[in-house]
Amino acid sequence: MIEELPIVRTVRELRARIRGWRQAGRTIGFVPTMGALHEGHLSLIRLAADRSDVVVASIFVNPTQFGPHEDYEAYPRDEARDTALLAEAGCGLLFAPTVGEMYPEGATTTVTVAAVSEPLDGQARPGHFAGVATVVTKLLNQCAPDLAVFGEKDFQQLQVIRRLVQDLDIPVEIVGGPTVRAADGLALSSRNAYLSADERVVAGQLNVLIRMSLDRLLAGEAVQTVEAWATASLLSAGFNAVDYLEARAPDTLARLGPGPISGPVRVLAAVRLGRTRLIDNMGA
Ligand code: PAF
Repeated sequence: MIEELPIVRTVRELRARIRGWRQAGRTIGFVPTMGALHEGHLSLIRLAADRSDVVVASIFVNPTQFGPHEDYEAYPRDEARDTALLAEAGCGLLFAPTVGEMYPEGATTTVTVAAVSEPLDGQARPGHFAGVATVVTKLLNQCAPDLAVFGEKDFQQLQVIRRLVQDLDIPVEIVGGPTVRAADGLALSSRNAYLSADERVVAGQLNVLIRMSLDRLLAGEAVQTVEAWATASLLSAGFNAVDYLEARAPDTLARLGPGPISGPVRVLAAVRLGRTRLIDNMGA
């Protein structure tokens, strides 16, 4: 039988648990989430469990990373279901703080990560990465894990977090977990729940077109040509808008030249489909 997962809601309780494990010589793996868990999150828990003695997960729908017209209120929340899934996947503790616990009255500090958080989602979602960077810095300080796992599905987020951990000397190893996909290749995401049946069919084309873009780049086609072809193909596939589909340098997410690639590349895309915004990426 799987034991019930202990839940703590304050930083003080979290630190007391962590202290106990540290005193017993155990290493801590941490998986921050916003809940609405799916197989992608559970794969991150398993990855953390493989590489540490105890896994702590957090569920916190972080208001500061949502724009004023985004889905903060509508974001799916089901703590009972999430807790059962976490226990089954090998998590040892859930940290589920309130907004007041994370942002007590009077808090005014924001973490901003220049350069890597500026293009792509940084442009499409102003303020988003400052919200992510601030909450992740806080969570890492609160939990003080040996390693923390984040999904490659949010590739720009992962690179922003790598940058901030390095720049702020936070003593934690950041591990990227591979994207988990449905049978048609659609990257699993909590926001896929918003898709209608018809939209779900169209959504399956996003990964196909990213893969084709990557193959064309690897075959020597010019970046500019591939980006233009892929953007037009996404629109003809039925997506309502393309926020971006771009080939970028994997570490810095800097723009590549317009011609053929000459080194590592990551193709990142964000599209709109009905009321849903989908992101995905692939690299070589
Ligand atoms: O990827 C997410 O779920 C969130 O952006 C994170 C990293 C938990 C910060 O709120």
